[in-house]
Amino acid sequence: MQQAEIFEMGPRDGLQNEKRLIPAAEKIALVDLLSRAGFRRIEVTSFVSPKWVPQMADAAEVMAGITRAPGISYAVLTPNMKGYEGARAARADEVAIFASASEGFSKANLNATIAESLERFAPVAKAARADGIAVRGYVSVVTDCPYDGPTPPANVARVAAALRDMGCYEISLGDTIGQGRPETIDAMLAAVLNEMPAEKLAGHYHDTAGRALQNIDASLARGLRVFDAAVGGLGGCPYAPGAKGNVATEAVARHLTAQGYATGLNMAVIDEAAAMARAMRGPA
Ligand code: HMG
Ligand code: MG
Repeated sequence: MQQAEIFEMGPRDGLQNEKRLIPAAEKIALVDLLSRAGFRRIEVTSFVSPKWVPQMADAAEVMAGITRAPGISYAVLTPNMKGYEGARAARADEVAIFASASEGFSKANLNATIAESLERFAPVAKAARADGIAVRGYVSVVTDCPYDGPTPPANVARVAAALRDMGCYEISLGDTIGQGRPETIDAMLAAVLNEMPAEKLAGHYHDTAGRALQNIDASLARGLRVFDAAVGGLGGCPYAPGAKGNVATEAVARHLTAQGYATGLNMAVIDEAAAMARAMRGPA
């Protein structure tokens, strides 16, 4: 049986946009439950500016509070060296640097041009490599940008290649506002695959328009086998107006299984975690 992997995003992408300030203890309980579900990688939190994303202000407390299970890589987002220092002190197993394929989203999310953001990420990637901490890269708005409109596939390929050249072991391709279609995802992947093989890529699809599973199918056809998802389908990006949740882990897991892929996940635990994540959501 072929394998496919879900990289669990719930505690980070799932919760970062929730209006209710969720107590660290609840986040820790969610991560600890997810640690029993069979994931190899869980994105726990972000070491970003608390002025920009208040929900992630307790990153150090959450990292200190979780009970780590052997064999799981606990990942965090790091936008700059200050974030990296926090991640290292918190003993993150891996860090993620996150760039944009459009200038409009780069400015909104990172207060920097794409080039400036890459300059900031370079020392983070270098320090992480020196410290033996794995580095993952994201490219956001890979098909559509809420500020700049449709994203040319060549721009995605260029930013993905820059992140690869910094030493990212995997590049996650983000349909940040969930407006991608199988055709636009396919065209984007064709461009990126000119730069690197499918084994280096992950699909990170938000489900705003309800097409994330179709977009995953288009990506499976192109050879991708890693998909980011969030239990309960929570999430969104504060700097991407209209971005709804990540595609739900429970939906992706069942979809992959139905397509004949083994995910190694325990669905009873996933369903329990999805219910817990949904209950953490405040009133809309
Ligand atoms: P800035 O305002 O230009 O930065 O923001 P600054 O260097 O001028 O710092 C401003 C203040 O923040 C200062 O504090 C810094 O110390 C502090 P003050 O002196 O005013 O008291 N600061 C920090 N504090 C804690 N940790 C840090 C940090 N850095 C600065 N790391 C910055 C630039 C990059 C910091 C800001 O824009 C930021 O934090 N952006 C992150 C936004 C974010 O987290 N977005 C959501 C995640 S990305 C996403 O969801 C997409 C993804 O899911 C993929 C997809 O769907 O496409 C990954
Ligand atoms: Mg996202």
